[in-house]
Amino acid sequence: MCGIVGYIGSKEIKHELIEGLRELEYRGYDSAGIAVMQHGNIQAFKAVGKLNNLEEKTRNFETSGPGIGIGHTRWATHGKPTELNAHPHMGQYSYVVHNGIIENYREIKSMLEGEGVHFLSQTDTEVIVHLFEKEAADAEDAEALFKAFKHTIEQLDGAYAVLLITQKAPETIFFARKGSPMIIGRNSEGEIYFASSDAPLIGKAEEVAYMEDGVIGYATPDAIHAEPDHLEFVPLSGDKLSAQKGGFRFFMEKEIYEQYQVMSDTMIGRVLDEDVAFEELSNDFLEGIERIKICACGTSYHAALTSSYLFERQARMPVNVEIASEFRYKEPLLNPDTLFIVISQSGETADTLEALRMAKEAGLKTLAICNVDNSSIVRMADTSILTRAGIEKGVASTKAFATQTMVLWMLSLFFAKRRGSVDAKTVATETSFMHQVPRVLKEALDVHEKCKRLSKRYLHGHGFFFIGRDIFYPLALEGALKLKEISYLHAEGYPAGEMKHGPIALADAELFTVALMPKTILYDKTKSNVEELSARDSTILSISPEMFELADDFILTHPHAHPMLEFFEMMVVEQLLAMEIAIRLGNDVDMPRNLAKSVTVE
Ligand code: M6R
Repeated sequence: MCGIVGYIGSKEIKHELIEGLRELEYRGYDSAGIAVMQHGNIQAFKAVGKLNNLEEKTRNFETSGPGIGIGHTRWATHGKPTELNAHPHMGQYSYVVHNGIIENYREIKSMLEGEGVHFLSQTDTEVIVHLFEKEAADAEDAEALFKAFKHTIEQLDGAYAVLLITQKAPETIFFARKGSPMIIGRNSEGEIYFASSDAPLIGKAEEVAYMEDGVIGYATPDAIHAEPDHLEFVPLSGDKLSAQKGGFRFFMEKEIYEQYQVMSDTMIGRVLDEDVAFEELSNDFLEGIERIKICACGTSYHAALTSSYLFERQARMPVNVEIASEFRYKEPLLNPDTLFIVISQSGETADTLEALRMAKEAGLKTLAICNVDNSSIVRMADTSILTRAGIEKGVASTKAFATQTMVLWMLSLFFAKRRGSVDAKTVATETSFMHQVPRVLKEALDVHEKCKRLSKRYLHGHGFFFIGRDIFYPLALEGALKLKEISYLHAEGYPAGEMKHGPIALADAELFTVALMPKTILYDKTKSNVEELSARDSTILSISPEMFELADDFILTHPHAHPMLEFFEMMVVEQLLAMEIAIRLGNDVDMPRNLAKSVTVE
């Protein structure tokens, strides 16, 4: 949801900013812009659309020697994706970039307009730079300018990560953070970097500080000043190469293909020979926990829903799963014997973060299952289990979902063992199945060619139903979400047994049914539901280890002895199918329209 970068140093500033933005482009790509200051002059460039357009526009712009700069890649919230609405936004002598939403911007804007300020954009962000210039009207020295910046930030309601530069302080970047992530990095060459995630800093900064909410400060080539507390710098490690496409057409494809490898990381130290363990969960922490509530959004919600079957079946614990954006406003009843779990790939999803905050305020014990260490959600939760999927860049979540689901399967067994609802033999059998997951994820890739061929047929029609029962119902929801977000085709996930209660009215040859038909769970029941659809002429694509005579097309999966192994294989099939359909339609699979990787607005 927008990405911001900043740079202080002597390298080619445009290059540093654009390289940083490239790493953040997945967060939004409606427009991009940079502002560079050297020798007291600021030059700004903006372009609508992807970063390539900005690169093209700045082709002949170069800098040499020390300077500073800020940059932004936008996911539009207020105002259309036009050049005027692109960041950086300018005042008379200052420029600002912002990630988040200023909730009271209308009030501030009308106050400023009343004083004669002229606004160029429809964004909420522009108020920041004008407000700053009003506050800084008489400020000349660094101290007075910082005071003006602080007064500006104090007047903002909402979420923000802000970088501001002004000709009045030609070597300074002012920064503030509340609710939207911001990281500052530095190295021994005296360079300072800012970014919305640590990806742009890998290979550039030697140490980084993950700013806490409420941090405000400024950086110059000589010093970094932050309030209310000093920034805590920690070494930054990471392998830049692992975030590149590595020969695949899209990050999504690469991420589907690396699922079997990252899954081993997810399991290390947790799935043992005949046991499961989580060093993140102490006995003290779990004392008194009798039920679980899980909040998440999108794909992470589907992982949560899957786990509700596992927890109840294995651990015999009541589990309640909620979409975070709904949970926030329903005045939920929260019981102290509840473990509140949030699931998030990014750890920055605003709705999930807010749900977590509410649970903490209610005094519940909280656990984050998250892919990004040091993210806001990880830092807020009492404890966290990292999914270890590595950087996920494709907007369509794949390996994050796989690893979340795996952690939840392990966790349900962990609770089952703890509560005595399963015996040691069952724990050993379950772990032996868990050990097979990486292999299953690898073998599942065998159907890629078949998905490519099938994608020719599944491009038109009036929609898709993904259907399944039990844990294959959340998987059906996930298959439909994958397809719609990257192909823009209408798709719905439905419990197979529920079709007869209405949706079957849509059935005809133009309705594509993707039927998840595992052999290990409710096969005959699902088969009957698919037969009902087939009898009404729906075009059926069955995904099953068994040939289904009424299917128009089929993808044969490997036979497995455990539903979760069938689950993981069918998950890969859904991902590949959605990706191949989207590629055939000519879509940008990694950056689908209207979306952003990390949703930091409500
Ligand atoms: O980072 P999070 O897991 O909290 O994100 C939640 C959703 O925004 C995310 O899963 C979204 O639905 C994906 N684009 C799905 O592929």
